[in-house]
Amino acid sequence: MNFKEELEKRIEEVEKVIINYLPKERGFQETVLKAMNYSVLAGGKRLRPMLMEETYRLFGGNEKKEIEPFMAAMEMIHTYSLVHDDLPAMDNDEYRRGRKTTHVVFGEAMGILAGDGLLNFAYETACKAYAGCLEQEPFENKLSEQQLRDYVNRANRIMKAMKVLTEKPGIYGMLGGQVIDVELTGKQVDKERLDVIYDWKTSALIEASMMIGAILAGATDQEVETIRKVGHSIGMAFQIQDDILDETSTLQILGKPIHSDEKNEKTTYVTLYGIEEAKQYVLAYSKKAIAQYQSLNKKNEYLEALIYYLIDREK
Ligand code: IPE
Ligand code: IPE
Ligand code: MG
Ligand code: MG
Ligand code: MG
Repeated sequence: MNFKEELEKRIEEVEKVIINYLPKERGFQETVLKAMNYSVLAGGKRLRPMLMEETYRLFGGNEKKEIEPFMAAMEMIHTYSLVHDDLPAMDNDEYRRGRKTTHVVFGEAMGILAGDGLLNFAYETACKAYAGCLEQEPFENKLSEQQLRDYVNRANRIMKAMKVLTEKPGIYGMLGGQVIDVELTGKQVDKERLDVIYDWKTSALIEASMMIGAILAGATDQEVETIRKVGHSIGMAFQIQDDILDETSTLQILGKPIHSDEKNEKTTYVTLYGIEEAKQYVLAYSKKAIAQYQSLNKKNEYLEALIYYLIDREK
């Protein structure tokens, strides 16, 4: 497998799915729709929907109508988190995904509303998975017992996936992490607290993506828990690498300003340990992710290669 080629191909495929679910830019509220699409269409690595789809494949899932709305929803939620993270009241950054940030182009109020819009629309979008499942009205169609059983199982899986999609971005996940991140700006932060911030602000959405893929494909509760751990480790490695790139990369490669953490007086793995030791943490968390993944005894060659690739990603 030529990983880079595969990666490009899959980014394109995921992008098509996302675009398919974006709102049409018309109506009296057109400005906010444009602002929402502006940020989503700016690009990005599409890592979360990709991890979701690959985990779905890992557990043998093959129902596009079910997984695709959740993939698009997750990218909308992630993009909302970025739009708000860049606001003047938060990290106050001017570039994202190689473009001027949403609030710079559309104004601060529209930046806030576009983020809110993406978050709400994500749930509208995810609900479409359920609409697909409900196409057949079970009681009017006099389904067989087996068909009825399948129907109920499917509805259950979608509801469980919805629970994860609503919980992990929220006050016990990403948003909770952002709260502590903002509150501790400019303050001394120890490793224990920093790990909580990373677990919530970054791992939560990656965990959620992989858990939703597993749940919708019918994984057992134990398998979903293992996948959550894989997502946790990938997320920790991902955020520490993000800290490193904030020091070592360029605006051109990264698509967002470097030294944002220094400007905002953030404690990061780089400020606590320096670049070299931070890299060791990225490696250690990635190895942990691989070991946890391998304990499942299932195979998705691309997913495994993706975890390795992220270790020294350059953007
Ligand atoms: C940026 O996420 C925010 C972090 C959690 C570090 P990504 O690095 O995945 O951003 P995009 O989606 O590729 O723009
Ligand atoms: C933000 O972490 C994580 C989010 C929940 C958006 P950062 O503030 O480090 O993300 P970047 O570097 O701006 O992408
Ligand atoms: Mg931030
Ligand atoms: Mg930021
Ligand atoms: Mg960062």
